[in-house]
Amino acid sequence: MLFKALPLFLTIGTALALMPLKPKIDSDRSLVDFMLMSRGVGSSNPALNQYCFNRYLPILKDITDQYEADYGKCVDTYKAECEAIDAKYYEPRENFTATAKETCDALLKCDGNVHYVDAFDCFASTGSEYSKKLFTLSSDAGEYGGIVRELYRAADTVAEFCANYAERVYWENTDRTYAELQKCLNGDIVEPSSNPSIIITTTTESQTTVV
Ligand SMILES: *[C@@H]1O[C@H](CO)[C@@H](O)[C@H](O)[C@H]1NC(C)=O
Repeated sequence: MLFKALPLFLTIGTALALMPLKPKIDSDRSLVDFMLMSRGVGSSNPALNQYCFNRYLPILKDITDQYEADYGKCVDTYKAECEAIDAKYYEPRENFTATAKETCDALLKCDGNVHYVDAFDCFASTGSEYSKKLFTLSSDAGEYGGIVRELYRAADTVAEFCANYAERVYWENTDRTYAELQKCLNGDIVEPSSNPSIIITTTTESQTTVV
């Protein structure tokens, strides 16, 4: 039971160590910065202020929600990838553990001999026998370690790319929305562009419509 639980524990440990589960963008912080930056602008007109913030705060929230969802997908994919790697190398790991237990048990058994000559003979022959197995274990484990290290590294790279992309989308959307909010506060009221979303309709010839 303990041995079964261990690999899962290691997986979670790995995922936590390599990829922060919380997005690093603090959207509240961004808004506070904006509020401080734009302090005084439009403040002479409370109705305009209220209008603009009512209009753009939900859009900013949508952008944040989208970022958190995108980032969450990156984390989920990364965790699934790490778990798949661990699952793939679970058997050799178990085999090494079995060999380790077998080795220890065999050597400890030698102490069961009452007579010193028997005990020493037992240690000598058992030690020699298992040293060959342990040599193989060591060399195989080194190979597996190298392979798994590379697989984790690849998963890291993908996760990093995924998170950076989510972050870039967030900043692009946020920058544009803050700019519109600022214009609104300056009294320049335009239709909010919100998030341009791309709808791809696949008919006979596929066309891309940006709304
Ligand atoms: C693990 O041990 C089993 C039983 O001894 C063996 O059949 C299997 O091939 C081993 N697997 C690996 C990956 O060494």
